[in-house]
Amino acid sequence: MNNIYLIGFMGCGKTSSGKKLSKLLNIPFLDTDQMIVETAGKKIPDIFNEEGEEAFRARETEVFRRLAEEKTCGAVISCGGGAALREENVTLMKQGGIVVMLTAKPETIYHRVKGGHNRPLLEGRMNVEGIAELMEGRLPFYEKAADVKIKTDRLRCAQVAKNIQKAIKAMES
Ligand code: S3P
Repeated sequence: MNNIYLIGFMGCGKTSSGKKLSKLLNIPFLDTDQMIVETAGKKIPDIFNEEGEEAFRARETEVFRRLAEEKTCGAVISCGGGAALREENVTLMKQGGIVVMLTAKPETIYHRVKGGHNRPLLEGRMNVEGIAELMEGRLPFYEKAADVKIKTDRLRCAQVAKNIQKAIKAMES
């Protein structure tokens, strides 16, 4: 199957660049967070508050299983920032297509996410140091899962989308 899975830290542009990429390639766009919200009937902070992080992770894995069962193909799939931390999710991504890691420096991320309250894991950590610390523990997981890495610092999401397209073409040739 030939999906394009976008992984990486919160605020690295998976959703915004993913939407641009889907337009550029003229293929559907899916967002695992959005799918979780639709099934749960509540927002992500409410899922974390009422059910806890583990329940959120279980819902997330359910989404990857569903995408595999339904044989979803030919889509850009923006994955929540913690999705690549679970082996089962990564296995399902690898079976479903190509995994693209988006990167950005903690300073860039902070700039993009500050002021938002839709990311429970950043509450109490909404500063460059807090972001850098959380990112450090996650980078090995992202790196291990990624087929290709794309930097996003100082780039508009349309440019990121073009760079992803170029990188995938280069991989395929
Ligand atoms: C999370 C990232 C979020 C969302 C949830 C947990 C994480 O998605 O899945 O808040 O663990 O990094 P985005 O990366 O799209 O913000």
